Amino acid sequence: MSWKNGAFLALDKVSLNFGGLLAVSDFDFILRQGELVGLIGPNGAGKTTVFNIITGQYEPVRGRVFFKGQDITGWRPDRVTCAGIARTFQNMRLFGGLTVLDNVLVSRHSKLKSSVLAAAFNFPGYIKEEREAKIKAMGLLDRLGLADLAHMRAGNLPYGQQRRVEIARALAADPKVLLLDEPAAGMNPEETIRLMEFISGVRNEFGLTIFLIEHDMKLVMGICERIHVIDYGISIAEGTPKEIQDDPKVISAYLGEEACDYS
Ligand SMILES: Nc1ncnc2c1ncn2[C@@H]1O[C@H](COP(=O)(O)OP(=O)(O)O)[C@@H](O)[C@H]1O
Ligand SMILES: [Mg+2]
Repeated sequence: MSWKNGAFLALDKVSLNFGGLLAVSDFDFILRQGELVGLIGPNGAGKTTVFNIITGQYEPVRGRVFFKGQDITGWRPDRVTCAGIARTFQNMRLFGGLTVLDNVLVSRHSKLKSSVLAAAFNFPGYIKEEREAKIKAMGLLDRLGLADLAHMRAGNLPYGQQRRVEIARALAADPKVLLLDEPAAGMNPEETIRLMEFISGVRNEFGLTIFLIEHDMKLVMGICERIHVIDYGISIAEGTPKEIQDDPKVISAYLGEEACDYS
């Protein structure tokens, strides 16, 4: 199909229902390599479900998902991650009792080659892999400006730092595409601005393509090149932040009174 030309990640008319509820309906979307695109919409609009379809948590009842031209519909989540799509979750999923470094290492483990048996006997190959994994994880934390936190318990960090660690953990899988589900949720305006800068920096540093779900209007308007709006599972608008901000459909569906608020 011609609209998919040039797409890095594409959703072709995907639909998913939960019982009688159509959570996502005929949803079309493309992400080009290097873009930072936002997905916004009211609570329950279907944003997280779109992510769950991309990453294989749910299989759509209709429609296809393509990544780099390959049909990945129905792939298991770990296979999607291996293919180059990593994500963070709306509700943080860090291991609070583990250090920051261990949280990143847990994510890398799927990439280690040695068997569980080799690990149990501390075979040299395993020890070498572990050491290399640790060096790589420290390198990653360093690039993200988080090296100082490596040995702190993730659960003891302020919320904003935990969000960064979660992004670090997603990046440990060496993704090409990063999906961020409401990264600024629960943050104050100052933390939000700092997180915004962090996300832009990460994108440049790692040459990533980013798809970002957000509720905070300032965050999406400030850093996204394009914004996609979903309401009741249906795509209602797509355009630059300026176009979206001025779109009457978006204003009535989502922004409402807030529309005048973020200039
Ligand atoms: N696992 C599920 N089972 C049943 N209903 C679900 C499930 N996940 C999401 N939904 C419903 O689908 C709709 C879309 O949810 P979601 O994608 O989480 O919205 P958003 O992320 O935009 O707030 C909501 O009405 C929600 O209650
Ligand atoms: Mg959600």
